[in-house]
Amino acid sequence: MIPMVDLKKQFQEIKDEVFSVLTEILESSQYILGPKVSEFEKKIADYHGVREAIGVASGTDALHLSIEALGIGEGDEVITTPFTFFATVEAILYTGATPVFADIEPDTLNIDVSQIEAKITEKTKAVLPVHLFGHPSDMEGIQKIAEKYNLKVIEDCAQAFGAAINGKRLGSFGDAGCFSFYPSKNLGGYGDGGMIILNDSMVADTIRKLRNHGSKGSYRHESVGFNSRLDELQAGILLVKLKHIDEYNRKRRQNAALYNELLSGKVKCPVEKDGAYHVYHQYTIMSERRDEIQKRLKGNGVSSVIYYPVPLHLQEALNFLGYKNGDLPVAEKAAREVLSLPIYPELEESAIVKIAEIIRDTV
Ligand SMILES: Cc1ncc(COP(=O)(O)O)c(C=O)c1O
Repeated sequence: MIPMVDLKKQFQEIKDEVFSVLTEILESSQYILGPKVSEFEKKIADYHGVREAIGVASGTDALHLSIEALGIGEGDEVITTPFTFFATVEAILYTGATPVFADIEPDTLNIDVSQIEAKITEKTKAVLPVHLFGHPSDMEGIQKIAEKYNLKVIEDCAQAFGAAINGKRLGSFGDAGCFSFYPSKNLGGYGDGGMIILNDSMVADTIRKLRNHGSKGSYRHESVGFNSRLDELQAGILLVKLKHIDEYNRKRRQNAALYNELLSGKVKCPVEKDGAYHVYHQYTIMSERRDEIQKRLKGNGVSSVIYYPVPLHLQEALNFLGYKNGDLPVAEKAAREVLSLPIYPELEESAIVKIAEIIRDTV
């Protein structure tokens, strides 16, 4: 059997470091907003070359609190991609704002900058690009539009920890960069967790209050907030994993290069645009014979997943937004053709060769 991810294998390699930090935290008995969270926030800010980093309870909350702290809510519109995990849009809706979808690029599957301007109205307050599967969105194009129309930019970096454009790490381009530490993410904890990075200290202060019941502490509440803190145990685990993240990403890239070599010409392989540093959270191929490929893989004990089978504008939960089939054809075609293959850092070369052979035999 070849799974999509093998977290057990990675854990075995870092077990001693993880147990040592967990013991330290458990013995300190400081479990909420303690020194490990502060240290992790500082290291994440330094890693991205930004002033502020705020640990929160999940990637979904990172998006939600960022949008809210940037003053976006009821009556506002946020332009985003229809080809992402549902949480991106839930976060917009939690604030009372309305998501507006612009179609995606056929190669990177990220939001297509040329589709954004047509979606701008007097209600538009922000653009929310998602760096899908670990490949950067076109931040130069997005920032040009944002400057022209005075829009905020919130980057969904849940799948793109460590990815960059010309050496500048994702999350540091917009007004806020939002990360998820869900266990299977490139930098994943052993539970839920998230982080917001930014440079504006006033907005960072607002987010720090929002994550902690609208309070800076001492039972004085300046606003109604949430309970959304990154916990100390997760921060400790993530500090261990942060030491290895560049190597994990390098291995993902190496695996992707081998897949590219073995599969190009047979199926549509993921691209890496000029200047982009792709971190392959997913290695996603496209083929009109996707279902056949998935069936053959399964028959040979190989896992694969369709991220995502239904674009968000056609999700039942979002019917009230009024989109219909045909509105965003590139996203709809992607949903019919994408298939993500195992790409995790510990994946053996022989497994990649086996997977590629099955696919080559099918198409
Ligand atoms: C693109 C994207 N946005 C947001 C999220 C939400 O993150 P979380 O699961 O940590 O809430 C995820 C992952 O789960 C994601 O893949």
